[in-house]
Amino acid sequence: MSDVKVYDVPAEWAERAYVGDAEYRRLYAASIADPDAFWGEHGKRIDWFKPYTKVKNTRYAPDVSIRWFEDGTTNVAHNCVDRHVGKRGDRTAIIWEGDNPAESRHISYRELSAEVQRFANVLKAQGVARGDRVTIYMPMIPEAAYAMLACARIGAVHSVVFGGFSPDSLAGRIADCASSVVVTADEGLRGGKPVPLKLNVDAACAKAGGVTSVIVVRRTAAAVPMTAGRDVYYDEAAKSVAAECPCEEMGAEDPLFILYTSGSTGKPKGVLHTTGGYLVYAAMTHQYVFDYHDGDIYWCTADVGWVTGHSYILYGPLANGATTLMFEGVPTWPSVSRCWEVIDKHKVNIFYTAPTAIRALMGSGEEPVKKTSRASLRLLGSVGEPINPEAWEWYHRVVGDERCPIVDTWWQTETGGILITPLPGATKLKPGSATRPFFGVKPEIVDADGKVQDGPCAGNLVIADSWPGQMRTVYGDHQRFFDTYFAAYKGKYFTGDGCRRDEDGYYWITGRVDDVINVSGHRMGTAEVESALVAHEKVSEAAVVGYPHDIKGQGIYAYVTLMRGEEPSEGLRKELVAWVRKEIGPIASPDLIQFAPGLPKTRSGKIMRRILRKIAEDDFGALGDTSTLADPAVVDDLVANRQNRA
Ligand code: PRX
Repeated sequence: MSDVKVYDVPAEWAERAYVGDAEYRRLYAASIADPDAFWGEHGKRIDWFKPYTKVKNTRYAPDVSIRWFEDGTTNVAHNCVDRHVGKRGDRTAIIWEGDNPAESRHISYRELSAEVQRFANVLKAQGVARGDRVTIYMPMIPEAAYAMLACARIGAVHSVVFGGFSPDSLAGRIADCASSVVVTADEGLRGGKPVPLKLNVDAACAKAGGVTSVIVVRRTAAAVPMTAGRDVYYDEAAKSVAAECPCEEMGAEDPLFILYTSGSTGKPKGVLHTTGGYLVYAAMTHQYVFDYHDGDIYWCTADVGWVTGHSYILYGPLANGATTLMFEGVPTWPSVSRCWEVIDKHKVNIFYTAPTAIRALMGSGEEPVKKTSRASLRLLGSVGEPINPEAWEWYHRVVGDERCPIVDTWWQTETGGILITPLPGATKLKPGSATRPFFGVKPEIVDADGKVQDGPCAGNLVIADSWPGQMRTVYGDHQRFFDTYFAAYKGKYFTGDGCRRDEDGYYWITGRVDDVINVSGHRMGTAEVESALVAHEKVSEAAVVGYPHDIKGQGIYAYVTLMRGEEPSEGLRKELVAWVRKEIGPIASPDLIQFAPGLPKTRSGKIMRRILRKIAEDDFGALGDTSTLADPAVVDDLVANRQNRA
């Protein structure tokens, strides 16, 4: 497209960066030509107890099996903590910035090591052994990181559940991986308001069953009910354990964590990541994409409950011996300048956030940004959803003072780390494009029949071969892993995203092509919201689609058919929104609910979502062929009563 603005690599970046354009092209070509040689070399960036002799052993057809560095042994906590203590024990590993701007702490690698070992011994004292699943439902406090690393240290598998999920959602995740130990806090604190984490855990345990131990970290010191014989306060349990805990020797393919994510059908899937390949990939992408150099202060605003928090707050940065900032609060409290104030306070050099946050802050104008210095900033990052060019330009001009490149990083929970992204010293930027593949990543664009497209084109994005950070299975359901990702296009990993490639070979992600919507960078299955709605006694049927939303990227639009005899009302609308928040969590709240006497169905009873999407987008001029509908008249009613009007 000729009207696309192109930003050249700034001269100082071309000089300081690890990789320039020619080097990128050379390394990329080498990584694709001989993955064994490339990753065999880069796998050495982490310490191995027993070095690997095999590198890549992967296949996507006729079945799926993914193994990297399979005969090597290592430990993630050793790599993220222990190995730095000798060389840089006094360096800050984690800067913790509290919800309250007056609260912050620096935790050195030496302190981190002591905390992780103690936490590991508390887990052991609660009966946790290698291979056991531990559910972590925590606010953004250092203990969340200690708990995750403690699991890695003793070979337990963590499943972190975002603190914004409801007790029901938490219960489903506890039950799915049969986790008998839960780590939580009395309360969380966000934007000055308490979040009742322990009460949610109690409700979840009652529903899930099987939880024998709840470890409670004190955050606000609120009085919370403690179940005798099951619940322990962390600080009390920590007093009676030893200070030292050796690392378990883990196989490269031993599980590291499970993280639940939404798909187009059914309940959330337990995405399973393993040890060696994941860590190599998270660490390497963190170093090159953010061009991380010793001494840089790096801040990723994600929550540890999402994959971005796993790979780019914790594992990638700590494996590199970096200083990573962990923020408990929200970007809008106590004021909309908070992010920029935190940047000035801690002299942050690299800032990584989501487009939804940028769009929300854009709404408050430039002054709250411009009154801060941000002189320390060198690089900006974006993740989680497509960034619209207007938000990109604002981020670049207002936040980055036209000085800082923006890395728009495309990846997924399933991919473990960043797959398509600029490298700041190598890649010319085009606002809205995630640009080019990272080393070892082979993107292809296919049409509906799976035919690979050449040159500039549009279609579905697949990845033709494995990379070390890739998920290995759906926990407890390998067949679902195959069916979800490898059945649509034989021999390729299907991402679920639509994509365009331009004449420079740049990739432009256009959003999901399945029934997954992306609300403020959070992934939501429409089927999940539908099943929450139909669980309400007054609802007979529901269909949920996404629609364009100025700040959230996509909003949730629900069509609801009521039980016979029930009348639509504003009160019921509010009740249904509250119901979904309770069932799933606030991130799933429908933005618009349309009461519909009927839904458009084919004669065989299949809901025609294409039509519902068009109406939700206020684009009903292009409804296409409706002649196959069982009752074409329902469409007129839906259009007449649509909720999203320009
Ligand atoms: O649709 C893509 C979108 O987010 C999806 C993955 O969501 P999740 O697993 O929750 O991981 C989010 C953080 C990695 C993708 O399928 N997505 C993520 N990053 C981008 C993006 N879409 C466009 N541009 C991005 N940079």
